[in-house]
Amino acid sequence: MRISQSGFAARRQQLMDQMAPGSVAIIPAAADVPRNRDVEYPFRQDSDFYYLTGFNEPDALLLLIPGRSEGQVVIFCRDRDPEMEIWNGYRAGPEGVCKQYGADQAYPVAEMDERMAELLEGRARLYYSMGSSEALDGQVRDWLNSIRKKARLGAVAPSEIVMLDHLLHEMRLFKSAEEIEVMRAAGRISAEAHVRAMKACQPGLLEYQLEAEITHHFAMNGCRLPAYSSIVGGGDNACVLHYTENRDELKNGDLVLIDAGCELDYYAGDITRTFPVSGKFSPEQQAVYELVLKSQLACIEAIRPGVPWIRIHDLSVEILTQGLIDLGLLKGDLEGLIESGAYKAFYMHRIGHWLGMDVHDVGDYKVNGDWRPLEPGMVMTVEPGIYISPQNEHVDKRWRGIGIRIEDDVLVTENGYEILSAGVPKSVAEIEQLMAR
Ligand code: GLY
Ligand code: MN
Ligand code: MN
Repeated sequence: MRISQSGFAARRQQLMDQMAPGSVAIIPAAADVPRNRDVEYPFRQDSDFYYLTGFNEPDALLLLIPGRSEGQVVIFCRDRDPEMEIWNGYRAGPEGVCKQYGADQAYPVAEMDERMAELLEGRARLYYSMGSSEALDGQVRDWLNSIRKKARLGAVAPSEIVMLDHLLHEMRLFKSAEEIEVMRAAGRISAEAHVRAMKACQPGLLEYQLEAEITHHFAMNGCRLPAYSSIVGGGDNACVLHYTENRDELKNGDLVLIDAGCELDYYAGDITRTFPVSGKFSPEQQAVYELVLKSQLACIEAIRPGVPWIRIHDLSVEILTQGLIDLGLLKGDLEGLIESGAYKAFYMHRIGHWLGMDVHDVGDYKVNGDWRPLEPGMVMTVEPGIYISPQNEHVDKRWRGIGIRIEDDVLVTENGYEILSAGVPKSVAEIEQLMAR
């Protein structure tokens, strides 16, 4: 189910086909990130770098040089080092990078400075995403300056520097059949984990203990880590959009909001479900829940090629705002409340985002100034929510502290959509039934 080496090679070729003749692209790998003394965060390769190589080591750099006779794909990587490998593990080394990852030429990173001038010299255009790494920005500047210094000897440095993001991220926005297979599996595993959490939930558990049910299911199904820090927020904590402390006790009578998705072979799932800790919704909780669900179902139903992305968001605003009026939580007329943004006191985020190798995936939302229409192969989340602040004195006390989001992952297909995360119940009846067992 993983992306095959021929898949990675095809991506490199597709990118090179779009690059200007006589150009070069630089794509860096991620670096190890220190956590505390002598400890590092688990390494996660940069998504762009991985998308083009499948190579999972830090301290590496990919160059794509279309049309170069000595080789179009050049990778700098950590050299083999028996001593370091005893302590920290295997390295592919330049030879392994050519054999296993399809580089035409590979060199140790230590040789980067001395080789780079030759690799960049004479290329008219450099594709490089400036601004991601200050250190690399500086190195690129130095490499270019070293070529410029030899101008009188006839050396020519690239005269144009172009952000690579646009070409590459447009490719990543449209998922191939192979990618869709992986994302279906990520959606399925993430959904199963949510079901497990619903079944395991009971008053008295700590939020991170419920989180552990989710992470356990991920790990037992090939996903060592989640795609992002899981959010498990009981009661008022559900109103904190990016709550990740996950330390409080889950209480009878409260809802719990879980936003969690696995990372499977570099692809993210991203699911949110909100359910009662006790297994039974209160009337207020149910009323708000039914409203969020109604908007989510309508937004998913509206997904098909040609519909502008923003239309899905606007639809969620219309339905949620009308529902807030009907519940007496907002007062005024629909148009006025939308116009003034009054609904943002309860619904302060967008309907969703692109989903892929990054949970908030790459790809433009506007093209030539207009919100882009959905197209087959795009994957987006649909995640409306209502969050009634515990401090909101404009609403009756019984509503305060209710936070609800419902999120699914949706693939745009030729004729409509496919929900990749459909395996978790979301109707009140289904949830209560599952939790009663
Ligand atoms: N889990 C992050 C998000 O839903 O956007
Ligand atoms: Mn989410
Ligand atoms: Mn999301």
